[in-house]
Amino acid sequence: MKVFLTGGAGYIGSHTLTELLGDGHEVCVYDNFANSQPVALARVRTLSNRDFDIVEGDIRQGDRLADALKAFQPDAVIHFAGLKAVGDSAAFPLEYYENNVQGSISLLRAMDSAGCRRIVFSSSATVYGEPRYLPFDEVHPLSPINPYGRTKLFIEEIIRDWTAAQPRTSAVLLRYFNPVGAHASGRIGEDPLGPPANLLPFVSQVAVGRREHVSVYGDDYPTRDGTGERDFIHVVDLARAHMAALTYCAARPGCEAINVGVGRGATVLEVIRAFEAVSGRSIPYRIVGRRAGDTASSVADPSKALALLGWRAERDLRDICQSAWAWQSGNPGGYRGADTPGERD
Ligand code: NAD
Ligand code: WQD
Repeated sequence: MKVFLTGGAGYIGSHTLTELLGDGHEVCVYDNFANSQPVALARVRTLSNRDFDIVEGDIRQGDRLADALKAFQPDAVIHFAGLKAVGDSAAFPLEYYENNVQGSISLLRAMDSAGCRRIVFSSSATVYGEPRYLPFDEVHPLSPINPYGRTKLFIEEIIRDWTAAQPRTSAVLLRYFNPVGAHASGRIGEDPLGPPANLLPFVSQVAVGRREHVSVYGDDYPTRDGTGERDFIHVVDLARAHMAALTYCAARPGCEAINVGVGRGATVLEVIRAFEAVSGRSIPYRIVGRRAGDTASSVADPSKALALLGWRAERDLRDICQSAWAWQSGNPGGYRGADTPGERD
């Protein structure tokens, strides 16, 4: 299959790219490198021993995007490109709506002009907002509580309307829970700019000595140990869910929203202990106040993914921490500390 990846140089995109190449697909990556490094693609090329196309561009550049799609003629698009920082979205909502929503409309228009009718979209569990019940299934009410989550919901609805208007189109909206970990080789991984907002990269940076301690945002939640509980899904399991979604898209028109999670949670303290066990490093932490907007628990009901895609997560918290540690210990400075001159772009 020929697959076009918007945002393919990013954390999840680069891991999905690696799996696609490993399965023999032809790929074109389209990315503006706003939150990624070209060196990540160089490492994927080495890891997979396969070549692929790269077009540097912004999804809001409609003509450039349409030209890239017409030139590559993909069977399907996986749409990773987007801004994803919840806090930033509250501070800069118009940037998020312009980049994520306007950019997605630009992509759908470009797909129409190139005759591409299949899309897999990177949605997020943030579309659910505060849990009315747990685990989250796909019919849980959709009430995002931040601009980032609203961009994801709006794009889901736009894609749903796009498929309804054109009978031969198909779309899968993958609602990711908490993607974490890295490729087992440790050569690609999550490389946030500045202090990580998310738990796993912060813990791994403490383990490697880049940060002094983890601030645990509250230990008074109604969970096993009082700290927040999340459905942490290994990024390689998540990548494999995209392969299954591509197969599903090829066989069925219409639009389906599907949760991508493990179906069980881990607490903040459980993550810290698991990371200490695999790294052999002590991870100091301090209990501080709750973070605004956080919920106690967020766990997926992944049964629809198994029923429709034949997919389930296979990796556990230990695999997640081992892979994250392989990446962080091998790349203390992330991609910006790329170790060989040929890798610098
Ligand atoms: P990322 O920032 O690592 O990757 C996103 C990629 O898109 C980057 O390479 C960036 O340069 C590119 N990009 C952003 N705006 C663009 C634009 N206008 N034009 C072209 N390229 C653009 O993020 P990620 O963690 O890999 O997430 C990928 C997708 O999955 C995002 O849409 C994100 O919202 C979604 N998602 C991520 C998580 C998570 O926790 N990582 C959870 C749920 C959903
Ligand atoms: C996990 C748990 C924190 C950092 C976010 C986005 C979501 C999605 C995934 C894009 C919580 C606690 C965290 C720290 C801590 N991204 N924590 N100290 O908030 O579940 O989801 O990332 O789509 O949209 O909201 O993930 O990793 O930030 O937090 O105690 O330094 O770890 O309170 O309980 P979250 P997270």
